[in-house]
Amino acid sequence: MCGIVGYVGRSVDGGIAGHSALDVVLEGLRRLEYRGYDSAGVAVVSKGAIESRKKSGKLSNLIAELEAHPLPETVTGIGHTRWATHGGPTDRNAHPHLADGGKLAVIHNGIIENFAELKLELLDKGVTFLSETDTEVAAALLADIYRNKLAGDTADGRLTRAMELACQRLEGAFTLLAVHADQPDVVVAARRNSPLVVGLGEGENFLGSDVSGFIDYTRRAVELGQDQIVTITADTVEITDFFGNPAAGKEYHVDWDPASAEKGGFSSFMEKEIHDQPDAVAQTLMGRSDINGRLTLDELRIDPELLKQVNKIIVLACGTAAYAGMVAKYAIENWCRIPTEVELAHEFRYRDPILDANTLVVSISQSGETMDTLMAVRYAREQGAKTISICNTNGSTIPRESDAVLYTHAGPEIAVASTKAFLAQITAAYLLGLYLAQLRGNIFSGQIKDVLADLNKIPAKIQKILDNAEPLRELARSMANEKSVLFLGRHVGYPVALEGALKLKEIAYIHAEGFAAGELKHGPIALIDDGQPVFVVVPSPRGRDSLHAKVVSNIQEVRARGARTLVIAEEGDEAVKAYAEYVFYVPETPTLLMPLLNTVPLQIFAAELAAAKGYDVDQPRNLAKSVTVE
Ligand code: G6P
Repeated sequence: MCGIVGYVGRSVDGGIAGHSALDVVLEGLRRLEYRGYDSAGVAVVSKGAIESRKKSGKLSNLIAELEAHPLPETVTGIGHTRWATHGGPTDRNAHPHLADGGKLAVIHNGIIENFAELKLELLDKGVTFLSETDTEVAAALLADIYRNKLAGDTADGRLTRAMELACQRLEGAFTLLAVHADQPDVVVAARRNSPLVVGLGEGENFLGSDVSGFIDYTRRAVELGQDQIVTITADTVEITDFFGNPAAGKEYHVDWDPASAEKGGFSSFMEKEIHDQPDAVAQTLMGRSDINGRLTLDELRIDPELLKQVNKIIVLACGTAAYAGMVAKYAIENWCRIPTEVELAHEFRYRDPILDANTLVVSISQSGETMDTLMAVRYAREQGAKTISICNTNGSTIPRESDAVLYTHAGPEIAVASTKAFLAQITAAYLLGLYLAQLRGNIFSGQIKDVLADLNKIPAKIQKILDNAEPLRELARSMANEKSVLFLGRHVGYPVALEGALKLKEIAYIHAEGFAAGELKHGPIALIDDGQPVFVVVPSPRGRDSLHAKVVSNIQEVRARGARTLVIAEEGDEAVKAYAEYVFYVPETPTLLMPLLNTVPLQIFAAELAAAKGYDVDQPRNLAKSVTVE
């Protein structure tokens, strides 16, 4: 939610020694636009004044505005791309918000919960507001402190001190960046419950919501802790807490490659990321087992003895990551025999869940910043549970606040609708399940070796699906005018059905629902009408008990009522042909691992159909990739 960039470079004789702040900030916004695209804005500090441009809609609107009304080349700038919370997506509500007679500019990600109370206080003092945002209140508070409370201070350090005092009064979640005309070579930033990382350059420093905000310029990043303020100049980075006490950030190397955050010839990031999946799974598996087929998750750094005592696992996540969690439940319970619950993070905290020191909480989050997941993890820790984060983003908050982390190595995921992160999350969850089983001696080592061997074959099988997807794409294009599509699955096919439906809702704006196939008779079958398209995820005929036969019966049930059945089945499953209008075959694999394959055609279907409708596949309406508000 909202992308934030800040930059300070070095100036020589009043000119620019390195990069132009505007170029850096716009490039950062381009990469961070996935975080929100309701409006975008920039501010630069030039000759003792702030100059700013902002525009509702996508970044391209701001760029057009900048072409019509250019900004000067400077060494200091900030930029923002918005996902609206307080106040609609208008020019006026776009960031930056100015205060102190136009000498101060502020951008913000998060929600300031006590903004109404602060606004009243400032209105009483005669402050006027131009927007409906909580951000403008923060800007006015900062200006009030800067101008009045610190009236006697010199310019040097004054913005930082004002930020400290302002943050002491703010409640909620915020990353704030501020520039002031009196200090033209400084950006001050603060964070509480919202993401912010520092990029370290040579004679230049950067701020970003995540490293993609500056990945083109440096791979050296510093993660900030909770309730910290950072002041950057071209040559210095100073970190304090909200009371001015010095604090230290943790430096790390960014291993994401800027090219991996480009479309690479594909029509959209989502298409590219769907095609990245063989690699995402392979990278997530890489280096995590030895030649004897033993899992070596050394990075977990939780005492194995503690893990042996775990008697309950709770998986917490939101959105697509929660469906990865559902898949994880099947695998973990099967391999480890530990009761495993999966819960949406935002529901978990509010129901007084039962957990103790023997509970292992596994959070799953691509971004590592989803506020509901973060809050749920914090709550779990407070209750004494052990917490492991499955996460794709190095240096993000959830892994930092967990006891241990298992990173997925999917690389940057830019499209709002998650694809490769989902497969990487499932892969990491399988590894965790196998590791726990290994530790606790639940399954024979030979069995672990076999599952690992099957997992290692998955990337090539995904590639085969990608290479043979043209008929599926044709089907998608032919269905561009559908109003509703249903998805059915059983066992691990159930979360796949949910994910297939979610993809279609998210990017094609088609009513889509996923059901457990067995639940059909308990209600959903009433939806079936003549020609209603129903995708059915069919389990392997070689798999468990009568699972396959049951799903085939479900296909017949909906077909008998007029449904158009579109089936995802395993190669060699000739039986389904008789009941399906359309069959897409995926390569054979053991039942528990099937989601890594049969999700892929559903992703391709949704992306192709949304593109056929002419929609922006990467930036669907109303959504943001990283939901950093509750
Ligand atoms: C948003 C995104 C989804 C994502 C979910 C959880 O809703 O649009 O694609 O699955 O957040 O995000 P996380 O970063 O925690 O995996």
